[in-house]
Amino acid sequence: MHHFRYSGSDLHCESVDLAAVARLYGTPTYVYSATTMEDNYRRLQRGLEGLDAHLCYAMKANSNLAVLRHFANLGAGFDLVSGGEIRRVLAAGGNVRGSVFAGVGKTEAEIALALEHGIFSFHVESEPELARINHVAGRLGVKAPVAIRVNPDVDAHTHAKITTGKSDNKFGIPLAHAAAAYEAAAQYPHLEIRGVQMHIGSQLTSVAPFVEAVKKVAPFAAELKQRYGIKYFSIGGGMGIIYRDALASGAAQWWESQPADQRPLTPESYGAALVPLLQPLGLKILLEHGRFMVGNAGALLARVEHLKRGANRNFLVVDAAMNDLVRPAMYDSYHEIVPLHRDSSRRALVADIVGPICESGDCFAKERQLQELGEGELLAFLSAGAYGYTMASRYNTRGMAAEVMVRGSTFELVNARETFEQIIAGEKVPAFLQR
Ligand code: LLP
Repeated sequence: MHHFRYSGSDLHCESVDLAAVARLYGTPTYVYSATTMEDNYRRLQRGLEGLDAHLCYAMKANSNLAVLRHFANLGAGFDLVSGGEIRRVLAAGGNVRGSVFAGVGKTEAEIALALEHGIFSFHVESEPELARINHVAGRLGVKAPVAIRVNPDVDAHTHAKITTGKSDNKFGIPLAHAAAAYEAAAQYPHLEIRGVQMHIGSQLTSVAPFVEAVKKVAPFAAELKQRYGIKYFSIGGGMGIIYRDALASGAAQWWESQPADQRPLTPESYGAALVPLLQPLGLKILLEHGRFMVGNAGALLARVEHLKRGANRNFLVVDAAMNDLVRPAMYDSYHEIVPLHRDSSRRALVADIVGPICESGDCFAKERQLQELGEGELLAFLSAGAYGYTMASRYNTRGMAAEVMVRGSTFELVNARETFEQIIAGEKVPAFLQR
């Protein structure tokens, strides 16, 4: 459920008319609903009642400072993956002490920064990394809290580029070798074994792979608790969101109308399946959801440049491009595209929705049906709150889009559109080319 809906003929985010946002700040612009994020957070908490659960929001999904502060205010920590992300948490007034540090290639400088700010735990992906963290902790005269990421070899049935829990991808240590890795960790004088972690993939739409993975890892977690006194089990993130019926899924009635045997994953069904498996462990449970927290809380606003009628296809050329939202080009992912002003008297249009970048991959949707739209009219890409802005680039020297946050009837710019001067600020022509 979320807070993007038509009020009369105009698409609103909460009580804000999105056309007003586009008028004020231009396009392309990302808009986020603070209330949807908060609802998602509270639903997840309620779904996990009975557990000592703590969300470490996977900030790679959306790391705008306003978003981070919002989750920090709600009590979340962060799943972070770089020194830059540590500094973002600090800049947003968040708490590194309630956060975890993941990733296969943490540098010594990043490890030191995390230790200096009292990171709750490192999620360690390999044995060489144990040695590196031990070395840095020794140099700083502290003990580094660690958990090993175990790879349960479960098929998450999601896009090949975002599945992570199979044994043939780069993440984690196979469950069969994990006991040896913990023994190695226990030998290091500057490490404290604090937990165990897994993450099987992203955009999971059924609870079965989560159940399978938890069932595989829970006995090992129990063993680690006995042996090393671990305090927590992080079950990672990965809860999927609705992309195809994005607009309709804002309303409770849509969820109720889904056939019982095909009901999409919800925090309630996720909790109902996992709480009974996790409760007996008596461990703190960390969650690292990113997409579920913010995905349906964001939309990307764009403006139509032209309707180009081709010989056998129409192209709706918009002012957003693959540099702003790369998911369709990168993963063939579907984003629902809707006009900001709905007019049922218009004819239907079937068109490819494309950006202005000089690549045929700069295409958001093929043969999409929507109402006829002309130059200057506005539309929204829904479910764009996760992995939208954070994966954007400056390709074709297009500056980063603006970001706006809405709460109730108020909205504020939370990131100004990048200017040309900002894009080239670090560049220079070397002396040997100047004449
Ligand atoms: N924990 C770890 C260790 C992760 O690697 C990830 C995501 C998460 C948590 C959060 O997963 P989530 O709850 O958001 O599914 N760019 C892709 C998704 C890549 C996910 C990478 N890791 C996309 O746009 O679909």
